[in-house]
Amino acid sequence: MKIFVLNGPNLNLLGVREPEVYGRGTYAELCEMISLYGAERDIEVEFRQTNCEGTLVDYIHEAFYDGADGIVINPAAYTHTSVAILDAVKSVALPTVEVHISDVSLREDFRQKSYIRAACVATVMGKGFGGYIEAIKILEDIIGSKS
Ligand code: DQA
Repeated sequence: MKIFVLNGPNLNLLGVREPEVYGRGTYAELCEMISLYGAERDIEVEFRQTNCEGTLVDYIHEAFYDGADGIVINPAAYTHTSVAILDAVKSVALPTVEVHISDVSLREDFRQKSYIRAACVATVMGKGFGGYIEAIKILEDIIGSKS
């Protein structure tokens, strides 16, 4: 099983950025934690992070062309604004889980809208870094039951 873990804008600054909201762990530590989980479960994991909307679209396409079985994506602020990212997920039709480190349902009004959600098999929010592992487990269930 191969998955892509995609992270959007400002998530490269995890650990520095609003630690009271996103915690003190860094982006490198997040990737390390996911890599360890992947290695235990024999899951190949590709990581991509970008601050640019179009590049995130390109990474979704890359997951498809690279033969990924699923995508875990935290589109960060583009969650709340991007039809292009929604369309990209619909275009590739790979099982995709939306992740947010914080619980966006308890935050500002402008964070209540998620464009991408309509194309995702599940959303995990408010679980910190552990939410990414939960998202991978959801993909394992879906992909495992297909094969
Ligand atoms: C976020 C929540 C978004 O509202 C915010 O713009 C982010 C991070 C999260 O992981 O909690 O950048 O996606």
